[in-house]
Amino acid sequence: MQDFLQLAGERYSVRKYSDKEIEDEKLDKILRAGQIGPTANNSQPQRVFVIKSKEALEKIRSFTPYSFNAPIVLMICYDENVSGNARDGHDYGADDATIATTQMMLEAWDLGIGSVWVRGYDKHELEKLFDLPENMVSVALLPIGYPSENSKPSPLHSRNIDIDDMVRYL
Ligand SMILES: Cc1cc2nc3c(=O)[nH]c(=O)nc-3n(C[C@H](O)[C@H](O)[C@H](O)COP(=O)(O)O)c2cc1C
Repeated sequence: MQDFLQLAGERYSVRKYSDKEIEDEKLDKILRAGQIGPTANNSQPQRVFVIKSKEALEKIRSFTPYSFNAPIVLMICYDENVSGNARDGHDYGADDATIATTQMMLEAWDLGIGSVWVRGYDKHELEKLFDLPENMVSVALLPIGYPSENSKPSPLHSRNIDIDDMVRYL
């Protein structure tokens, strides 16, 4: 296992993918990473739709250019019938699904598989496109695949906030 900070620092958003298929056992590991994260009250409302069939890939590719022709696109949602609520009414579903997505993104990178977090779409349109039930709320798309040979990080990747602007000790 590599050093976590090295893994997290080297990961970058991949927007060019090779044709190489993702092996089933690697996909299973990525999905497992989404299964084992923390969720509020352990309610586990995260739901992952694996967009992999020719038909489903055609659908997502015509819906958004941000699928980047990746061989698989994960559509991460949460089930609002299952997610918990805080005392102020806040629904924890998006928090939980976000953690699951982050874990899958990092596990993928650890396996040599790239991804890019995508939220630049109309979530209601996406939910309609895949005929999701009303209680299923879309949180992110995660195209995944082996980076193409000419894939490289965008300049934004290395633009990190200054630690002193990020951290306040109280
Ligand atoms: C919530 C969220 C939404 C994002 N939406 C998109 C998107 O719609 N399209 C895209 O190409 N990248 C998207 N990104 C990727 C960011 O642009 C990228 O993470 C950021 O520029 C830093 O680059 P890096 O991931 O290479 O470090 C999104 C990232 C996050 C966390």
